[in-house]
Amino acid sequence: MTAYKIPYGRQSITEDDINAVVQTLQSDFLTQGPKILEFEQNFAKYVGAKYAVAVSNGTAALHLSLLGLGIGQGDHVITTPITFVATANAALYTGANVHFADIAPDTYLIDLNKVEALLKKHPKGFFKAILPVDFAGLPVSAEKLKILADKYQFKIVEDACHAPGAYFVDKQNIKQNTGNGKFSDATAFSFHPVKHIAAGEGGMITTNNEQLYQKLLKLRTHGISKNEMTYQILNKEKQGGWYYEMHDLGYNYRLTDIQATLGNSQLQRADTGLIKRQKIAEKYKHELKNLPVKFQKIPKSSFHAYHLFIIEVENRKIFYDYLHQNGILAQIHYIPVHLLDYYSQFGWKKGDFPIAESYYEKTISLPMFPSLTEDEQNYVIEKIKAFFS
Ligand SMILES: Cc1ncc(COP(=O)(O)O)c(C=O)c1O
Repeated sequence: MTAYKIPYGRQSITEDDINAVVQTLQSDFLTQGPKILEFEQNFAKYVGAKYAVAVSNGTAALHLSLLGLGIGQGDHVITTPITFVATANAALYTGANVHFADIAPDTYLIDLNKVEALLKKHPKGFFKAILPVDFAGLPVSAEKLKILADKYQFKIVEDACHAPGAYFVDKQNIKQNTGNGKFSDATAFSFHPVKHIAAGEGGMITTNNEQLYQKLLKLRTHGISKNEMTYQILNKEKQGGWYYEMHDLGYNYRLTDIQATLGNSQLQRADTGLIKRQKIAEKYKHELKNLPVKFQKIPKSSFHAYHLFIIEVENRKIFYDYLHQNGILAQIHYIPVHLLDYYSQFGWKKGDFPIAESYYEKTISLPMFPSLTEDEQNYVIEKIKAFFS
């Protein structure tokens, strides 16, 4: 038995969080109340986007973004094989076909050269959207992707579930926050407890497109609108104040006020959490630099939000078992999506994306979360050093 049980990620909840949630519990609204807009406005400000729409989770954020941008039955979209299944599944929900482009071997992000090669194989407009993933918290080159998007006419739905607070510096030397809507049509975030901002479950879509924003608000709640009576304004006058219209087949993808309150409270200290994540990453890199481990490459212009701290090792399975025996609950992110059973029906098989597959054979995520104590991190480092000695 070991003294420690250290997960790879976990939430941190403060007295302020608890007090805020209790206040909401005592208020008139548990859902569909004022806390939603408050969280949306604060989040939009945090990432520098014009609009934000809170939804029930990150998967819903991806699904609604695609629907809102008109992606549907029979369309073709591209994503990375190294992501959580939710990214690709969200596209399948719309009826679209999912294609993959392999990752770059050093950053683990979708390889834009491979994306372009795929785009070139088909007529312009064939692919309706790309879902790049800011994997582990490292932002994609959204500026470069936008050039491709304009050239080949597709939408960008950025999966930033790992990356609130990340940014890159663009060609004009301007800081571009992930989710600021400058390059991507929509950006999706998750508030699952292992993520930067915990709401229990929760998600957010940010965009600068007002039309999309209005559409997302409706799609999140059954496609119903009380404000925008496009066709039947006369009916409302005839019928009464209860009257509403349903314009699209939407969903119940709402966030509750309870979750929004927790998310909003956590958002207040998001930057403190990022600083802590950076410190933890720097210490791992410093302490492990002489061992046979490889780190994710971070381009100079990028600020990594470190949802995950990933290392590459040989004998990964033995290393994983060893860490777990020592109470270090390191995790594997992720099994390449194209290798999952369900995806084999689409014809994907081993060998299709060799870099993703080789990545999967070697990588492991070490504990990375703001409340990881110095003692805990020292213990992890000591055990890793012992493994290699
Ligand atoms: C890259 C990525 N995309 C999407 C999701 C889905 O988010 P949620 O769990 O909030 O639905 C996750 C969650 O782990 C994720 O890691």
